[in-house]
Amino acid sequence: MLSDKPLSNLDRLWCGPLLKRKDHAAETRSFKWGWSCGACSLSSVDMKTQSLGKSKLISTRLAYGNMRCVGTWNPADATPEVRARGVKAHVAAYEAGYTHFDSADIYCAGVCEEVLGQTMREVSGMRDRIIVATKCGIRFGGNPKPDSPGRYDFSADYIRACCDASLKRLGVETIDLYHLHRPDVLMNPAEIAPVFDDLHKSGKVKVFAVSNFMPTTLAALQKHVNVPIEVNQVEIHLGRLDPFVDGTLDQCIERTITPTAWSPLGGGWLGTGRDAPRNNPNNAKWTLLQQLLDKIAAEHETSRTVIALAWLMKHPSRIIPIIGSVKPENIKEAAKADDVELSREEWYQIYVAARGQNMP
Ligand SMILES: NC(=O)c1ccc[n+]([C@@H]2O[C@H](COP(=O)([O-])OP(=O)(O)OC[C@H]3O[C@@H](n4cnc5c(N)ncnc54)[C@H](OP(=O)(O)O)[C@@H]3O)[C@@H](O)[C@H]2O)c1
Repeated sequence: MLSDKPLSNLDRLWCGPLLKRKDHAAETRSFKWGWSCGACSLSSVDMKTQSLGKSKLISTRLAYGNMRCVGTWNPADATPEVRARGVKAHVAAYEAGYTHFDSADIYCAGVCEEVLGQTMREVSGMRDRIIVATKCGIRFGGNPKPDSPGRYDFSADYIRACCDASLKRLGVETIDLYHLHRPDVLMNPAEIAPVFDDLHKSGKVKVFAVSNFMPTTLAALQKHVNVPIEVNQVEIHLGRLDPFVDGTLDQCIERTITPTAWSPLGGGWLGTGRDAPRNNPNNAKWTLLQQLLDKIAAEHETSRTVIALAWLMKHPSRIIPIIGSVKPENIKEAAKADDVELSREEWYQIYVAARGQNMP
């Protein structure tokens, strides 16, 4: 998306260093979408990119997720100060080179979408350079009646209403990547097909995705919907290895679907050094794993976080980790995983440690 706008200061910040590079023209050709400013299609930060599925959307190899950006699930607690901190985290991710921003309508009841929208309004040109991703389909208890249970809802009317509400909160005309958040047991793919067609034709949604879908559920949906499902966002990290063996990543490779990994640091324990993942009493195993990650990190002159992310990114399905930190230094640090190449031996060493048992 080239434009004839004059360069803003931020554009200069982003593009200045690369404008001087001899290979600028050659590199520009490799960025089809999502990277552009007033003058060129590059950023000053060289994060590698990849297509999302077979679509034309180009994402950086790591994405930024904003679920924690206001630090609360209660919208009443999302004061202007808290929102400003959320904006700061988004700006840090943008400046670190991330071009894929993941949100959901349920994150702080829509506040996180609003904070992403606020950031895009405050940062000139950001909207045109990033993938705006969000999700629908989860309903909390008490909605619409006091005794309504927490549930999932892929009914046509609900998806349409959610999409309109997200567009408004984000302040955009198009959601680039729209996910069904968690499989609705009552999902009827034939009911979803015309909704997706309409959202796509009207320009409200560019590309469709699912989240937490087993391969069979994804196949059932795809059999009926005309638009391709290009992404499956699932929980993958060293404390949750199921997608490697339950067919999820096999299906991604077979159908050229991009897997995105939520909680790629297990919600934090792979970064900070807290003892164990949630709900897992096997502390000894996790301590050994953390020690191994630290050893490999030292050999690569990097951090445990970076190794845990690079480990995900080595898988041939081309997993995109979604970073959830709100600290600018951690957001920047995570982006270094882009540059680390683990050997097959290192990869299996880590895998075996995370399994807690040798390969059969
Ligand atoms: N589809 C779904 O069902 C689903 C579910 C959950 C999440 N998600 C998506 O996935 C995104 C990421 O999830 P997550 O936040 O659980 O991811 P995560 O990256 O595994 O965890 C982030 C947490 O780790 C902490 N952390 C500790 N050390 C860190 C380090 N060195 N580097 C980075 N973070 C460190 C962060 O704290 P600091 O902020 O202090 O750095 C933050 O609290 C969400 O924002 C959301 O977009 C999707």
